[in-house]
Amino acid sequence: MKLLLVGSGGREHAVAWKLRRDDPSLEIICAPGNAGISEIGECIPVKATDVRGLLAFARRGEIDLTFVGPEAPLASGIVDLFREERLTIFGPTRAAAEIETSKRFAKELMRSAGVPTAEATSHISMDSAKDAARKVGAPVVVKASGLAAGKGVIVASSLEEAERAIEIMMGDRAFGDAGAEVLVEEFLEGEELSLFGITDGETVVPLLAAQDHKRLLDGDLGPNTGGMGAYAPVSIATADLVDRAIDIVFNPTLRAMRAAGRPFTGLLYAGLMITGDKVRVVEFNCRFGDPETQAILPLMQSSLLDLVMASATGEGLGAARIVWDPMHSVTTVVAAPGYPDSPQTGAPIRLPAPPAGVTVFHAGTSRDSDTGELITAGGRVLAVTGVAPSLAEAAEKSRSFAEKVTFEGRQLRRDIGWRELERSARAS
Ligand code: AMP
Ligand code: GLY
Repeated sequence: MKLLLVGSGGREHAVAWKLRRDDPSLEIICAPGNAGISEIGECIPVKATDVRGLLAFARRGEIDLTFVGPEAPLASGIVDLFREERLTIFGPTRAAAEIETSKRFAKELMRSAGVPTAEATSHISMDSAKDAARKVGAPVVVKASGLAAGKGVIVASSLEEAERAIEIMMGDRAFGDAGAEVLVEEFLEGEELSLFGITDGETVVPLLAAQDHKRLLDGDLGPNTGGMGAYAPVSIATADLVDRAIDIVFNPTLRAMRAAGRPFTGLLYAGLMITGDKVRVVEFNCRFGDPETQAILPLMQSSLLDLVMASATGEGLGAARIVWDPMHSVTTVVAAPGYPDSPQTGAPIRLPAPPAGVTVFHAGTSRDSDTGELITAGGRVLAVTGVAPSLAEAAEKSRSFAEKVTFEGRQLRRDIGWRELERSARAS
């Protein structure tokens, strides 16, 4: 079987690694891939956003299945295009991907379906957005409605900060057209959880819940990033809580998407806020999370490939369930200097061989065209996942090996999993 994998990050490396484990004879071609993925499959120089180029390749290359990692090609309608040509592809259509690409659409859908989420209003004028922020009062959350590469959300602790955020987004267009419309949203207090569900449009199969660490620095300080680390499982995501999230979040959302003529297939990522026993949606994404995927997939014993095929072919998930390794997983991201604002790349990387229980997923890496040396090529460079019987051991494995990966100016957090570690310390 021949797989076309679209993307070039740590998430895509983890997906390639897992799918190859599920089917050792799987032939993987990745566009454009990275230095790590090139050890599992062939990387071709077609950009993830070049959906026409990808289509031409899939037609020529007799691809059996296409797996789309990032949101940008989904937003450009890669799934619609492939399906028109009767090619098997995993992911949502452009209209269904709006659940991520238009925060206003997602909010209206949740409201109509009765899915619990923060109160919000949407605005196309700066004055009305500022009025709304004043009405909500600080703290208040200002969000660009469109896709802003994970940067379009400002949690403002004062009204001045909220007004500045509105001006930057709507006036200066700091996130381009994504900021033509903004949402002004109630601030939710609680603990965040990333819960992913693979779906055929009707049935949903949840993955293990994970917790992302979005801030750059230890103690959840510093600027927001794409994610500096993650761990799974999360003890607050009890079986009961996950069942409830399926009942009050996933099922009504999928039903509303079908009713809106936009059935959602692929992976639905619910960013949840847990406040006591309350579950509310912070955001939806239309794809696997990064770096949560690098923490979750190493614990997945049963086949991801079977679920992906069942969703992509329309055969349906039926009563599929996932078998999980009863271990703990912690992923530490090693990032380039200057990340997230202006990462510097091109530095040689020293990457020793990982010990047992540690897997290194490449994100922003490539090979120097002259020397073949491994070099940095993106903001998040590597994701180091440790798996162990306890969270503390997994965290130690991940952190200590991440420390051994060296390149000029590297950044990493040394406290991934801290909430859970504090919880278990309190419990004992
Ligand atoms: P998003 O891109 O929507 O995930 O937002 C990025 C981050 O901003 C989230 O992971 C939260 O940490 C924070 N955030 C977004 N919306 C809210 C909210 N309504 N209340 C509190 N924090 C929020
Ligand atoms: N880790 C957050 C995301 O993938 O959007």
